[in-house]
Amino acid sequence: MDNPFIIKSYESKELFCDREEELQQLLRNTTGHTDTTLISQRRMGKTGLILRLYDELSNERPDIQTIYLDIFASRNLDDFIKMLAEAAIRAFRPKSSLLDKLMVFIKALRPQISFDPITGEPQLQISYQTAHEKEYTLRGLFEFLDSQNTPIVLAIDEFQQIRKYPEQNMEALLRTYTQLTKNITFIFCGSKRHIMTDIFANERKPFYSSTAFVSLGKIPFEKYKDFIVNLFGQRKRSVDSGAVDFILEWTRRHTYYTQQLCHTIYDNGVTNIGHDEVKSSCAQLMQQGEAVYLQYRQMLTVKQWNFLIAIAKEGCVSQITSAEFLRKYRIGTPSTARKQADSLCEKGLLNAETTLHRTEYTVNDVFFSHWLERL
Ligand SMILES: Nc1ncnc2c1ncn2[C@@H]1O[C@H](COP(=O)(O)OP(=O)(O)OP(=O)(O)O)[C@@H](O)[C@H]1O
Ligand SMILES: [Mg+2]
Repeated sequence: MDNPFIIKSYESKELFCDREEELQQLLRNTTGHTDTTLISQRRMGKTGLILRLYDELSNERPDIQTIYLDIFASRNLDDFIKMLAEAAIRAFRPKSSLLDKLMVFIKALRPQISFDPITGEPQLQISYQTAHEKEYTLRGLFEFLDSQNTPIVLAIDEFQQIRKYPEQNMEALLRTYTQLTKNITFIFCGSKRHIMTDIFANERKPFYSSTAFVSLGKIPFEKYKDFIVNLFGQRKRSVDSGAVDFILEWTRRHTYYTQQLCHTIYDNGVTNIGHDEVKSSCAQLMQQGEAVYLQYRQMLTVKQWNFLIAIAKEGCVSQITSAEFLRKYRIGTPSTARKQADSLCEKGLLNAETTLHRTEYTVNDVFFSHWLERL
C-alpha cells in the first residue's frame, strides 16, 4: 500500500510538508556561498530538509553537485575521511568525468575497495602510517573537490560527532580547509544544541561566527493540518477536522511522531477517520513501544525513572527546581533535580530546549511520554 506519510528519509516534494522559509534560506545560502549551521531537536526534520533542498537544487541548479555525508557512525579522523570519500563516490554520476577523476585520486591512496554485499555501494579501507599522513589525505580530498570547477554543496550531518574523536584538533583542521575552499559550500547539521552552539558560536573556537544559523522548529499548525487533510483526501479517505487537531496536539507537532501516527492511521485502512480511529492508533503505537520503554526502566535508577514520569505527567516543565514541582513529585533538592535532568538529557531521554528566558524540558520520545503519563 502506498502510504503517503513517510517515516524515513525523503521521497518527494508532494509528501513533504512546508519548510518553505527554511528552504528559501538554505537556497540563498548555498547558491550565495554562505555556510550554514542547521540545528533542531532530534527527529524534527533536519535530514529531510537537506534532501528536500538537494531535490530543489537538482531541478533549479543542475550545475551544482550535492554531497550528503552522515558522520553519526564515525569514531575518528580515519572514519571521517573514508566516509567523505564514499559520500562523494555515491554523489557523482556514474560514468561522469568527475567520478573518473575522483577514482584516480582515491586509488592513489592505495585503498582496499570492497562492495557492500547488500547495497552494492563501494567501501574503502585506507591505511595510514602517521597522523600527519591522515591530515594530508583529508586536505588532498578537499583540494580535489574544490578544484573541479563545479560548485559543490557538502552537507555534514550529525556534525557534533567530531567532538567524540580522539583527535583534538578536528575543528581547527576542518576550519582551515573550509576556509581555503572556493567552490564548496557547507551545511553543518546537528541535534545536540549545546555542542553545536559551542562549535559555531563560541568565540574561542575555530568555527566561531563562520556560518549562518538555521534553527528548525515545529511546522505551523494550520500548514500541517492542511497537509494531513489533503494527503488523506487525495487517497479517498476523509478525516474529521477535530481528529486532525487531536493528532497534532497529541504528537506535539514533533514531525517524526506526527508522521508516524498518520502513517499508522493510514495503514489501518479506515476510510472515515474520526477521534476513535485516531485514539486506537495512538494506543497501538504506545503498545508497540512498550518493550523498549521497559528496557529504559531497567537502565535507569528509581530516581531517574520518577523524574522522567514527573516531566511526562506535566508534559513540559520549565522550572525543574521550583518548590512546587519538587514537592509534587517528591524529587528532593534543586540540585538533585538538576542532576537527574542532566543525566536524562545526556542519555537522550529528555530534551532541553533553551530559549532566551528559560529552558523547557520534555520527554524526547512523544509516544513514550504519553505512555509514562499514565503510570
Ligand atoms: N517537512 C516534512 N514533511 C513530512 N515529513 C517529514 C518532514 N520533515 C521530516 N519528515 C519525516 O520526519 C521524520 C524525521 O525527520 P528527519 O529524520 O529528517 O529528522 P532529523 O531532525 O534529521 O532527526 P535526527 O536528529 O534524529 O537525525 C522522517 O521520517 C522524515 O521522513
Ligand atoms: Mg537526521
